[in-house]
Amino acid sequence: MKVAIGCDHGGLELKEGIVVLLNSQGTEIIDMGTGDCCSEAGRPASVDYPDYGAKVAKAVSAGEVDCGILVCGTGIGMSIVANKFPGVRAALCHDAFTAKMSRMHNDANILAIGGRVTGREVALDMVGIWLSTPFEGGRHQRRLDKISDIEKTSLSV
Ligand code: RB5
Repeated sequence: MKVAIGCDHGGLELKEGIVVLLNSQGTEIIDMGTGDCCSEAGRPASVDYPDYGAKVAKAVSAGEVDCGILVCGTGIGMSIVANKFPGVRAALCHDAFTAKMSRMHNDANILAIGGRVTGREVALDMVGIWLSTPFEGGRHQRRLDKISDIEKTSLSV
């Protein structure tokens, strides 16, 4: 499985923890930044989340990776950006249950997490659950097909 990961300054610390976790499990990760550049105050330099969200979402949309993980302060900005890309189903999750359901019912292909609102251990647990939970299909596929139809018609408006 190939996973793209990205963050802004608000998600950098958590993203680094996720990268360490996935590396230790042998998962192939493509880290699309931001990196560990620091401002003069010793904090991560402020960057714009759309730049990094777009990189990861573009790779998922193009099928270059199997899925993506995005982290910003709240996860909100990253999920908004990612869902602009065709075929992307980005889910902003806050706990194990929402992470699991986003795979089972929504076949989410990007997991968005808020590095300032979700505790580190909860977030790492969510990542493991999200990557290992399969889509249920069935009635949920019918609903995803409707989302695809909406995407096609909205793009032609
Ligand atoms: C950055 O300060 C913050 O706005 C960003 O990380 C994110 O929370 C946006 O949704």
